Amino acid sequence: MAILMCRPEHFGIEYEINPWMHIAVEVDHERAVEQWEALHSLYVDLGETVELTTSLAGLPDMVFSANAAVLWRRRAVLSRFHHAERAGEERHWRAALERLDFDVREVSAGLSFEGAGDALFVGDHLFLAWGFRTDHAAHAEVARLLDVESTSLELVDPRFYHLDTCFCPLDGGTALIAPRAFAPESLELVRARVPRLIEVSTEVAAGFACNAMPLSGAVISSAAVSELQPELSAIGCDTVALPMDEFIKAGGGVRCLSLPLDLG
Ligand code: ARG
Repeated sequence: MAILMCRPEHFGIEYEINPWMHIAVEVDHERAVEQWEALHSLYVDLGETVELTTSLAGLPDMVFSANAAVLWRRRAVLSRFHHAERAGEERHWRAALERLDFDVREVSAGLSFEGAGDALFVGDHLFLAWGFRTDHAAHAEVARLLDVESTSLELVDPRFYHLDTCFCPLDGGTALIAPRAFAPESLELVRARVPRLIEVSTEVAAGFACNAMPLSGAVISSAAVSELQPELSAIGCDTVALPMDEFIKAGGGVRCLSLPLDLG
């Protein structure tokens, strides 16, 4: 598999756009680099191809490559960020994806959409979230631009402001889910489509356990994923727990730092 990552040179907390971010809480830059390098080396050791984009001063959240776009086959629907603070990333993500040969499309002007942060596939069915970052009205456009079927889910807890903070597909019929992050009707829609849901408590999800990358029979995530080890080993999955606390200060974990490039 190929994964797009962005080096954390310019990562930091320079503004507050989610409940995790506090300008007063400083990022330990050296630790952040170590945590990012550990994830990067793990991918390389597992035989994945890691594509890197340049991080840019003044765009401290660019390290979170999951928010570049949603990808399917060779198409990309580029993010249009809800907050002006991240809007400067868009043209850089477009250039990076075009360089990787993606046909880059966009939702209509005026709509917000935050890429794979709010758009995850279970098999070939796309789950799209709204409530904090992505507009509900963008969902139909994203599905049409990618030519896929989709289900819209409403997020209700501001700590889980992106779908990838509370939901992680593991295979075509299995996913991790933090049920209380979703409106009850949305949860029912997921239950109807995904036969095997591994429920994660709000507390464990708040450690960014669901912000995970399933790879080579293992679920790679933050330290909190060790809490899920019994359930995951029961379905034949290993867990790999990596310290991610420097990125959690910005509201991100393993999955936010990783954009899988070859879906579909
Ligand atoms: N500070 C970033 C933001 O609030 C974190 C993004 C995390 N990315 C993700 N895919 N959940 O936009």
